[in-house]
Amino acid sequence: MGFDIKNIFKQLSFNTFIPFFYPLMMLPLKGWRKRAIGMLSFRSGDRVIIPGVGSGYDLPSIPRGISVDGLDISDVMLAIAKNKIRGKHQAVTLHAMDAEKLNFPPNTFDKAILGLFLTCVYDPQKAFAEIVRVVKPNGEILIYDHLIRAQNWRASLISGLDFVMKYNFCSVIRVFDDVIKGQPVVVVKEIKGDPFGFVKGFLLRKTA
Ligand SMILES: C[S@@+](CC[C@H](N)C(=O)[O-])C[C@H]1O[C@@H](n2cnc3c(N)ncnc32)[C@H](O)[C@@H]1O
Repeated sequence: MGFDIKNIFKQLSFNTFIPFFYPLMMLPLKGWRKRAIGMLSFRSGDRVIIPGVGSGYDLPSIPRGISVDGLDISDVMLAIAKNKIRGKHQAVTLHAMDAEKLNFPPNTFDKAILGLFLTCVYDPQKAFAEIVRVVKPNGEILIYDHLIRAQNWRASLISGLDFVMKYNFCSVIRVFDDVIKGQPVVVVKEIKGDPFGFVKGFLLRKTA
């Protein structure tokens, strides 16, 4: 994977201290993750892309007969994911790859799972456009994340923080509507992961 200055601090965080805390941070999301992935209608033979696959928490919820390409900029997160799938009968290929520059031809995948990724990637619009490019027409894109549904006073008040946060860990103040704007997708379903909607799931379909 090529050197890119915008990812340096993020790689540093995800290659050092974050992997230690990650399992603890993921505990409250355990049931929710399964519910969100359950929105996808898997068909045997489907090919799924998971940008920012991290340490592979989504992988156990994906049924057999589905092939998965997971990619990440953190070698340590990828190594943990690799360890998780060892000995399992799952067709998973892991790549060290920047999701903003996907090394796949257009219309390659049937589905995409973007779990806690769009709040983490440096440029969410660019990364989302790349995902839409590689998903087939009518393909499903699942997003579950801490995205805000539309611009509101809270988002406006703290949106300046995104400038700093996008370089290191995650920015929980991004607006869903801005991320998907201009892309050939429709929102098919939306669910809340908690009563306040801090975590939300969106099922989208590529239209063209
Ligand atoms: C919060 S973690 C989510 C991991 C996993 N999807 C999950 O649900 O547990 C975000 C992941 O995105 C990765 N990431 C950030 N920017 C990326 C990029 N440009 N390309 C690929 N992966 C990226 C990070 O290294 C990290 O592993």
